Amino acid sequence: MSAGTGLLDIHLTEDDAAAALRDDVRTGLTAPFKHLPPKWFYDARGSALFEDITQLPEYYPTRTERALLAESVAAIAEASGADTLVELGSGSSEKTRLLLDAFSRAGTLRRYVPQDVSAPALRAAMDALAVDYPGLELHGVVGDFTSHLDRLPRGERRMVAFLGGTIGNLRPHERRVFLDELRAVLEPGEQLLLGTGLVIDEPTLVAAYDDSAGVTAEFNRNVLRVLNRELDADFDVEAFEHVALWDPVDEWIEMRLRASRAMTVHVRELDLVAEFAAGEEMRTEISAKFHVAGVRQMLQASAFAPVQTWTDPEERFALTLATAVDGDVLA
Ligand code: SAH
Ligand code: TRP
Repeated sequence: MSAGTGLLDIHLTEDDAAAALRDDVRTGLTAPFKHLPPKWFYDARGSALFEDITQLPEYYPTRTERALLAESVAAIAEASGADTLVELGSGSSEKTRLLLDAFSRAGTLRRYVPQDVSAPALRAAMDALAVDYPGLELHGVVGDFTSHLDRLPRGERRMVAFLGGTIGNLRPHERRVFLDELRAVLEPGEQLLLGTGLVIDEPTLVAAYDDSAGVTAEFNRNVLRVLNRELDADFDVEAFEHVALWDPVDEWIEMRLRASRAMTVHVRELDLVAEFAAGEEMRTEISAKFHVAGVRQMLQASAFAPVQTWTDPEERFALTLATAVDGDVLA
């Protein structure tokens, strides 16, 4: 299928997404401690709200990672020799421009493969890139990085970028499965560029996920609007308060929605009634933070050999370049 600006593969059709949403919502709303899975934040409005988050004074990850990319991309592109840059959860692809620029100076890159679960965000990113990078082949993929990695296009030599700290939105077991699956679809020598938030002081972390302008709160509540629209539910969206907590044991920020009063919610498409007690909290997202050594160990455990790590002076964020190696070497 063509997006008008390049090839667009749909690995997740609207029907697949609707079926997955129904399963996730049924499981999550009938659990003793209610939860909703994070990928449903990102409809067109959710993706736009996330872009607003990246501009907030409190949300340091995006600008910190951008600075790390600015400092490292020349060396990365020169050493890489990749002909294809794949990006998972690419969103607006804004920071990726630094990589595309460096690769275009190095002269090896032919193709960019942005992959995202949000079709509207992906289309908008591809339209903008087509204008600014006329010589670059664009091959977008609407898909889920937790289940469609085996369908990614191949290249002669690929680099996979996974930025924004998005790996921290997966739980530890899901992270391991994700990295193993990614490693399995790569050839030895292909590379991974991974962005991870680091463990820092609690006030800075919490503020990044609970900004004073309330944009993150609106983003968090957006998942309820998605449910109202897609599943004919009747959440009173404004009656849910945004909660962001730092969990020092698991080292993650946990996002929740708290019912400000007792409510009965009907999810008509699922014939489901969910009761919320006053003050009841429902988990919507985690954002795990890491230590540099932990990132390297996590990569090694999935047969990626770390090559280099870049961190900012305040050690808030890390960018790690790693190479896929034969599993046996490290086993
Ligand atoms: N990489 C961008 C966006 C990060 S936000 C940045 O660094 O700014 C996370 C992105 O991942 C969103 O664009 C969201 O739509 C996408 N996403 C979330 N869950 C996903 C999944 N399971 N599969 C593919 N993309 C996903
Ligand atoms: N990948 C982003 C992060 O973990 C996603 C994100 C930012 C997010 N703010 C959020 C997810 C608020 C849910 C709620 O930083």
